[in-house]
Amino acid sequence: MSEIRLHNVTKRFGDIVAVNDVSIDVNEGEFVVLLGPSGAGKTTTLRLIAGLERPDEGEIFIDGEAATDMHPADRDVAFIFQQYSLYPHLTVFGNLAFPLRSPRRRTSEADVSARVRSVAQMLHIESKLANMATHLSGGEMQRVAIGRALVREPKVFLMDEPLSSLDAKLREELRIELKRLHRSIGATIIYVTHDQVEATTLADRIGILEHGRIVQMGTPREVYGNPASLSAAQRLGSPPINLLPPALFDPAAMPAGTSTVAIRPEDIVLHGADARDALNLRVLEYSPLRHMLILDREGTAIVATTMTERNFTPGQTVGVSLPPRSLLYFRSDGRRIPA
Ligand SMILES: Nc1ncnc2c1ncn2[C@@H]1O[C@H](COP(=O)(O)OP(=O)(O)O)[C@@H](O)[C@H]1O
Ligand SMILES: [Mg+2]
Repeated sequence: MSEIRLHNVTKRFGDIVAVNDVSIDVNEGEFVVLLGPSGAGKTTTLRLIAGLERPDEGEIFIDGEAATDMHPADRDVAFIFQQYSLYPHLTVFGNLAFPLRSPRRRTSEADVSARVRSVAQMLHIESKLANMATHLSGGEMQRVAIGRALVREPKVFLMDEPLSSLDAKLREELRIELKRLHRSIGATIIYVTHDQVEATTLADRIGILEHGRIVQMGTPREVYGNPASLSAAQRLGSPPINLLPPALFDPAAMPAGTSTVAIRPEDIVLHGADARDALNLRVLEYSPLRHMLILDREGTAIVATTMTERNFTPGQTVGVSLPPRSLLYFRSDGRRIPA
């Protein structure tokens, strides 16, 4: 049984279709990341699951139960927001204890204390328990916000870009910790982000969300290696996938209707200059640290990456082949054409 199930869910705000006929199944213990640009409908999807919005169409099931009309408080899901919202007048301990002290719960103070301490330990904030919530760094505040969700032991965690307001180093640190946390507590997590690194490192499965629609759902490897559309192909990969005009290729070797040919930078094979059957391209730029080569093909820049550092100089010519099995073909509407 899937823990969370969205069945043909649509949510409109006036003329805007924020979430458009979305169906998702999230399994128990799974870490699903919804990846999409700003405005794609990520937050609205989470708010629908949490019960903060009601779908115009479709149904939501939590743990097999129809939840579409269930009160948010009865859904047993914890929402972690992009902007940590702690109670400023409480200590870290007070913030972590708060959900446990609600009258609905009737947890004994001894249990509250034990639970708070165990969660604080998990998140490495034990030494901050007596601090006022406002006397913390951004990373610590977000740990407390995550901790406040953890103490409740909800069925499901909904995380809305929880790391996006942190600086790069903290973001990476907390990202690694979130993954560890997921492994150790086996929670079901739906996490939304526009950051492909977060998506590929955290997710069991990624759902690519665009204009309110799920355009593809699969493991990071599936979405990367076998993208369903041009936009899904562009969503993952750094440096990004190369998009090339069909004019560069033999029309007889291309499927009918091809409007764009794409190849990943690491799939481009580099030879010495004047190698047989290779395209001779001029080097525009070489970045040894990233093993990244920018080549010029009749005004179109093509990026190639190598496994190891090599020696290239701008202006030199390199023989390049684009192996047919690595080429992806797309129609003008962005749909993938099976090769
Ligand atoms: N309460 C609202 N009222 C009107 N429009 C909204 C509201 N919430 C979201 N939207 C619109 O719905 C679309 C999806 O928004 P959102 O779910 O916040 O996207 P994301 O989180 O992916 O950036 C956007 O066009 C946004 O402007
Ligand atoms: Mg959002």
